[in-house]
Amino acid sequence: MKKFRKIGVLTSGGDAPGMNAAIRAVTRAAIANGVEVMGIYRGYSGLIDGDCKTLGIRDVSNIINKGGTVLYSDRCPEFKTPEGMAKAVKTCNELEIDGIVAIGGDGTFRGAQDLTKHDIPCVGIPGTIDNDITSTDNTIGYDTAMNTVIDLVDKLRDTCESHARCNVVEVMGRGAGDIALNTGIAAGATAVVIPEFDFDDDALIEKLKAARKIGKRNFIIMVSEGVGKDYGPSLVERIEKDTGIETKFARLAHIVRGGSPTLRDRVLASEMGHFAVEKLLMGRSNIVICQRNNKVVARDIDYALSLDALYKNKITVDELSQKFEEKLVNDMLSHAKIRREKMLELYNIQKEINL
Ligand code: ADP
Ligand code: F6P
Repeated sequence: MKKFRKIGVLTSGGDAPGMNAAIRAVTRAAIANGVEVMGIYRGYSGLIDGDCKTLGIRDVSNIINKGGTVLYSDRCPEFKTPEGMAKAVKTCNELEIDGIVAIGGDGTFRGAQDLTKHDIPCVGIPGTIDNDITSTDNTIGYDTAMNTVIDLVDKLRDTCESHARCNVVEVMGRGAGDIALNTGIAAGATAVVIPEFDFDDDALIEKLKAARKIGKRNFIIMVSEGVGKDYGPSLVERIEKDTGIETKFARLAHIVRGGSPTLRDRVLASEMGHFAVEKLLMGRSNIVICQRNNKVVARDIDYALSLDALYKNKITVDELSQKFEEKLVNDMLSHAKIRREKMLELYNIQKEINL
């Protein structure tokens, strides 16, 4: 089995609160096992440029509570090219990096998969506010982002109530409505619009009119970024025109990606970071660390990406069956079904209790 003397850690893609807690856990767990740690700056860009620094125990002190990522992040198209990959592999060889823990989203895992093919063992940790990694129940940063959203929406509600207004609030989630749905419930939104389910604009207009008639003053409509950037502003126009209710638009955007991580994100990041090192040093590679039913487990990156594709209808069962054995395909089908059913259940609850 490969002897690990030094591992690298990097954060890549959209940053997320809790990434620092994961960097800290990875660093401390590796050092506790007699393994040196290289912090790789700016994700795969830093790996290409050799922008790396040894991390000691004290270098990761006082970061568990900090938002963003002390290693910085980047989107690095060059890494997808053979030349970029060759430079990254060269850095690993020159700095004697025996393996890498890559914290990020599905793009980051694809990069890790490519590195693994070049004999650099990699383990992925899901760090993204969107919670759009289907193989894990929660991603690092999701809980913090949702808490930030409800804090901001509670504030919007105060002013909506004073002025008898409606506010359409768009929250991040490129391809996943998880943030919008859960914060919509938690903030008592009148309606939630997410890419996963059809939405009836006409019914919303009638609902608003009826509620205003019986004296409701404030309305919050939560919209996920995933339904398209023009949807929110055009809904505002339609509500004003058809109901006469003064309506504002708020795009919360990147503000919910910052800030101090919640307890849940700090604990999840610490558990996942520790587990990632344990698995890497045991010789596991090409895996992503997931949380399933409150337990931290490892899944092959290939499995995680394929499950995502299945959940998002980007791959057929036939195509899956050509790649994976029947047991695994059934596991994916069952997981995707449970996740979608849970989402639908929450969506329907929200429709019934929010007015
Ligand atoms: P996230 O990890 O949050 O999904 P990105 O999709 O931007 O964010 O991916 C982060 C980085 O991972 C990219 O900038 C790129 O360097 C690398 N990456 C993304 N997709 C691939 C791919 N198909 N092959 C190799 N590397 C990739
Ligand atoms: O992937 C997380 C995410 O926050 C998405 O919800 C959003 O579409 C995207 O990142 C924005 O990324 P950028 O930082 O490139 O604007």
